[in-house]
Amino acid sequence: MAASRGRALAAVVAVAVSATVLTAAGCSPARNVTRQAMNECSDLVASLARTPPPVDPNRPVMGFNPYNTFGATIDQAVIVGIVRAMASNGMRAAGYRHIILDDGWQGPRTAAGQITADPGRFPCGIQRLATYVHAEGFRFGIYTSPAPRACSGRTGSAGHVAADARTFARWGVDYVKLDWCGSDYSSSGAATIARTWRAALSATHRPMILSINAGGAPSVGPWAHVIVNSWRVGGDICGSWYNQTRPPSATARGCYNRLYDEGIYDYLTSPGVHAQVTLAGPGHFIDPDMLEVGTAGKSASGQDLTAYALDPAEADTNFAIWAMWSAPLIAGNDPRTMGGADLASQILLNREIIAVDQDPLGRPATLVLSRGGWQVWYKPLSGGKAAVAVVNLADSAGAALFSWAELGANGQPTSLSDLWAHRDLLVTGAGLRVQVGAHATAMYVLTSR
Ligand code: GLA
Repeated sequence: MAASRGRALAAVVAVAVSATVLTAAGCSPARNVTRQAMNECSDLVASLARTPPPVDPNRPVMGFNPYNTFGATIDQAVIVGIVRAMASNGMRAAGYRHIILDDGWQGPRTAAGQITADPGRFPCGIQRLATYVHAEGFRFGIYTSPAPRACSGRTGSAGHVAADARTFARWGVDYVKLDWCGSDYSSSGAATIARTWRAALSATHRPMILSINAGGAPSVGPWAHVIVNSWRVGGDICGSWYNQTRPPSATARGCYNRLYDEGIYDYLTSPGVHAQVTLAGPGHFIDPDMLEVGTAGKSASGQDLTAYALDPAEADTNFAIWAMWSAPLIAGNDPRTMGGADLASQILLNREIIAVDQDPLGRPATLVLSRGGWQVWYKPLSGGKAAVAVVNLADSAGAALFSWAELGANGQPTSLSDLWAHRDLLVTGAGLRVQVGAHATAMYVLTSR
């Protein structure tokens, strides 16, 4: 499984994320803000004007969200740097087409109630940023929350849903992430909020994806899958194999709360995920949160490390199973550190696994076997094919033989290809013998008779 690729974390680019307004002697502060904004806005010129592909709710969203790496500390310079990186490091070409601002962009409302962007962090405003993002061939997403304050304490949308939806449409937003801190988590209350947002977005006549995080409980899926395009099925992901069931790794990232934050193992073994993945289909997908592939580990004192948060096998599993679940593939690492040989490039740019996620049938995998530390997930694909993933949940490498029936196949397949090794295997015998590293996932596409 992806054994030969480079394991060194590319140097984590140090970025200044705080807003600084330069004041030159003799100039009024307002003038200086304007002058600085003009300089900064000259960054918002695309190298070549492109047109992003139209919004397609029938495929899981692929893109980038800064939260896993940057928290709620984002600004225009970081986002522009990431857009540029994604345009040249293979991510845009591989289908990562959404640039999603998470919490942290919001400024105050004007006296008339109009939402604004934080003028220090986004000096050129969101509309110009969105125009730039579009011209680089990406779609543009934004975060909001139904309460008066978002999770970070910044401005939320309470009492302003219709107006904010119109503002987002005018700004050129293609995707809305609706968070829930401080809002109604009851099924009926949360469904009403989601319906209100869906209606407000529809009323703008601009197609926009609606992705919600109504807390991730198993009770969300049954109402959410008919209202929204994706819904969270667990807590905030953290960069660790374990968090809830066992203590997180020493270099875990974002595992702040043992009861809420979920490691990869926690997501894989969550009964709520197993129950809700079956509700997914074209236009409505489960959201097990952004990817932790290639995120930096953290020291005990909270410093970014040069080591990854997930080891390579765990990162493979994160990507493979999210693709099996037809989940959004939203990178949470820093794309500016990707150069082809690094772990994130090797995993996130695996076109065969991306194709499993994006398969036009849009049907998620189901768990067809769970035994002795092994899981087998089976996902029907278009064209009579299927994807099979064998996860080794154990803390040591293992080998096992699975019959074709145990892999979900209808007898011996006529073809079998290994999606990590990129090669076709000779199909012989009554089943498949696998050797899988600790926390790793073997992944295949097969054709049945
Ligand atoms: C919540 C969400 C996260 C992120 C933060 C932002 O924790 O679950 O995905 O959006 O808020 O503050």
